Formats: sequence, C-alpha cells, structure tokens
Amino acid sequence: MSKSTDTNKFHRRTFLEKGTTAATSVALSCATVSMVSAGEKPPKKLRIGVIGTGRRSNTHLRQLLKHNDNVVVPAICDCKPAALASGVRAVQSFGGGTPETYGKDEYAYRDLLARDDIDGVIVATDCQWLGKISIDALKADKYVGSEVTGTHSLEECWELVKAKEKSKGRYMLLENASYGRETLIVLNMIRKGVFGNPCFGVGSYIHDCRFLAYEPDGQLTWRGRMVRDDYGCNYPSHAIGSPAKWLGINDGDRMVSLTAVMTEPQGLHDQAVKKFGPDSPQAKIKFKSGDITIVNIRTAKGKVLRIDCGLGCTRPYSRYYTLQGLTGCYDSRKGVYINNDAGKVDAVVWPHKLVKNYAAEFEHKLYREEAEQAKKAGGHGGLDYFVNRDFLQMIREDKDPWIDAYDAAAWTSIMHLSRHSIDKNSAPVDIPDFTGGRWKNPDWRKGRMA
Ligand SMILES: NC(=O)c1ccc[n+]([C@@H]2O[C@H](COP(=O)([O-])OP(=O)(O)OC[C@H]3O[C@@H](n4cnc5c(N)ncnc54)[C@H](O)[C@@H]3O)[C@@H](O)[C@H]2O)c1
Repeated sequence: MSKSTDTNKFHRRTFLEKGTTAATSVALSCATVSMVSAGEKPPKKLRIGVIGTGRRSNTHLRQLLKHNDNVVVPAICDCKPAALASGVRAVQSFGGGTPETYGKDEYAYRDLLARDDIDGVIVATDCQWLGKISIDALKADKYVGSEVTGTHSLEECWELVKAKEKSKGRYMLLENASYGRETLIVLNMIRKGVFGNPCFGVGSYIHDCRFLAYEPDGQLTWRGRMVRDDYGCNYPSHAIGSPAKWLGINDGDRMVSLTAVMTEPQGLHDQAVKKFGPDSPQAKIKFKSGDITIVNIRTAKGKVLRIDCGLGCTRPYSRYYTLQGLTGCYDSRKGVYINNDAGKVDAVVWPHKLVKNYAAEFEHKLYREEAEQAKKAGGHGGLDYFVNRDFLQMIREDKDPWIDAYDAAAWTSIMHLSRHSIDKNSAPVDIPDFTGGRWKNPDWRKGRMA
C-alpha cells in the first residue's frame, strides 16, 4: 500500500505533543494530512527507536513506516552487526531514510534511550532481554512497545509494573494474537451477554519452533537456549491473551493460583539426534522444555482458565480457543452454541460461518473501522497492523493501552509460576496481584484504549 493511499484513511485522533510544546492537543483530519483544516496544526511526527533488528523487527518497521503517516525511525539498535545492517536496509527500503545505529555491545540500547528526541521504542530482541530493556526504557520516560513474551523472570514482572508506575512513559505488550477478528467478536458477544456468565476459557499456543533452535553453525539461538534452560509454559501470552480479556482478568477478576503439568522433553532431543547425529554436541544437550505444558488457572471469582503450550512438538501450528458461559459457548474448532431458555441448543454456528453470521452485530470497532487497512498492511493477517496502530495511539493520546504493564506482568508470570508448580510435583502456586487490589473495580482502567 502506498503512503498516499494510507493518508486517505486517516482517523480523527488527538495526541499530546511532548517536549517543547507540552500537552498541546492536535486534531488530525478525517480525510488526508494535506487536508488539515485551516487553524489546525499538522500532526507531530512520532519518533520511534527500534531495539533488536532481527526477523520480527522487519514487520514493525514496515508497519511503522509504510502503513502509518507521521512516524519516523531516527535510531535503531542491535548488538549483532549483520542484524543492525539489515535494520538500516529495512528502514531505507520502507522510505525512512538512514537511521543512526547503536550496536557496540548488548547495552548500547542505553545510548539510544538517552536521546531526548525519541518518543517511544519498540523492543524486539531475544525474549531474555525484553524485560530488562523495557524497564530501562520506562526509567528513561519512553513509551514502550515490547514484543512477547514480555519479561524473563518473576522479579522482572514486578520491576516492570513499578517502573511503569513511576515513568512518564507508558507500556504496551505487543500481543498481536489478542487482536484476532473472531476472538474480538467473541469479546463483544460476551459483553452483550450472549453466552451468559462466562466461567471457563481455554487458549493455546502450539508452534513447533525447533527449526529456529540453531544458528547455521549449530550453536543454539535464543529460542534454543530458552527451551534448553527454561521449561513450563515458555510463551504464554498468545494463549492467555484472549481468554484473559474475555474473563475480565485485571478488570473485575484476577488469576489467583495455577497448577501445571509438563510432558518429558523428547522432541528437542529427537530433532538434535536426527539433525546433527547421535554423537554430536547437540545430541548431548539436556533440553528442559517438555513437548507440551498444560496450565490450569483459578480466578478470584471461581472461574477457570486453561492454557496449552508446546514449542517443540510434532503438532501443526495451532491457536485454539474456547469460552464457556452459562448459556452458550464458543469453540474455535467447533463454532458457537447458544442455549435457549429451555436449556436446548437453539443456535449452532460452525467456525467458518462465525464471522459471516455475527460480524454485523458484534464486530469489534477496530475491524469495523480499519479492517481494510489491516488487510492491506498484513502481518499475521493484519494482527500486526493493529498492535502497531495501538502502540502509536498510546503515544499520540498519552493513554494506557488495552494490553498494559499489569496484563503483561500477570500473563508473563505464568511462564515463571508454571515452572514453580512443575518443580513441586504440580502443586498449586499463588499468582501475585500486580494491580495492588485495583482489579476489584471493573472500571479502574476505564477511559483507556480498548
Ligand atoms: N508477536 C509475534 O507474532 C512474534 C513473532 C516472532 C517473534 N516475536 C518476538 O520478537 C522478538 C524477536 O524475535 P526474532 O524472531 O526477530 O528474533 P531474532 O533472533 O531474529 O532477532 C532478535 C534480535 O535481537 C538482538 N538482540 C538481542 N539482545 C540484544 C540487546 N541487548 N541489544 C540489542 N539487540 C539485541 C539480536 O542480536 C537479534 O538480532 C522475540 O522476543 C520474539 O518472542 C514475536
């Protein structure tokens, strides 16, 4: 999509101009940037730095530069020279000029954060660095968009929340899977009472990432190190995001405890033997991640969430979701069932008909207003368009996003706490309340983007 086409789709938004002209609200024209009405200031260009310019950053750079107006990327950072060079090429190819680069070592990002001309940063590094860099960015008063998983320890979950609460910046977890059209329709159906009181949610992330575990020279990549060193539900957010939003987690309810079970690790070893040979160093690696982990979570209001996570198994890629309510349910693999007052099923809608049947009444406003742009912009079928859109909107409107630091801490804590449960023979483990009791008021985050 060309830039000129994009500008025709501009929505009216206000945003805070930070810096010299503090807190000046500027309205964007509904039509084109060139049609800004007399008296209105042209919108300020948002200045975004990107930290970690590997595979994933390319999507963000494309979304930021090709599918948004008024965004510039003046600086990028990566500690690997080849990745940094490819980041420069990406910015150039998306019409963003030549950014300044930071890459002398793994802490070079701090020099980027020290710049006072950067509004926000996208952090798309190895999972092991996401939390540390995001916390430092918040301490530098930047707006932060962090890739999943979010943090790499329970302590980092707390540090993230504390840093966010002290920062002049804000934090968004770029949890793109939560922006699915169907799961957002289900969210609206829940809000309108279609399923009755929801009591059970299931989410999953089954993704055989074994092909990404090794560098060309046979060394482990960060993904390989993650499944060697960590275990349990290593990548929870894609699975928990939609069901957590459906059940009002952190908005009137919260997750209080979990239990986890994990199968023996066999898939990663099996692959190492087949790929490198039975006597290879890779075949001797003791991978800790089992082929599949199941986590059951209890909420303060007696609801149950289940998440299935597998990163090294033979199953095909799958993200399946279920919502069970008192009078109906949604199952991404079976469809929607609604019971009538007599308790009989009086509506059955098969998965392939779900959007067709329910979009007219329950389409989320994001898709109502911007489905075409998302489709053209692409990136996981448009999901990446929406996370980048909300990241930029968080900065323009200076408002906390739909998926904030409290969600990130709670969702990512599952990664660490599932490990604790597995270590204790699947005993229940308490989940901390990162909101400090504010979750009890379902409206405490009212007014934020949603
Ligand atoms: N939301 C999604 O759909 C999705 C998809 C893929 C990846 N991801 C996430 O995106 C992130 C990046 O994944 P990827 O596939 O691009 O990995 P990648 O290995 O291709 O890129 C990561 C880059 O980060 C750099 N890096 C690591 N530590 C750094 C530091 N301290 N300072 C600067 N740069 C550093 C590495 O050198 C590398 O170039 C991961 O956190 C991953 O979980 C999300």
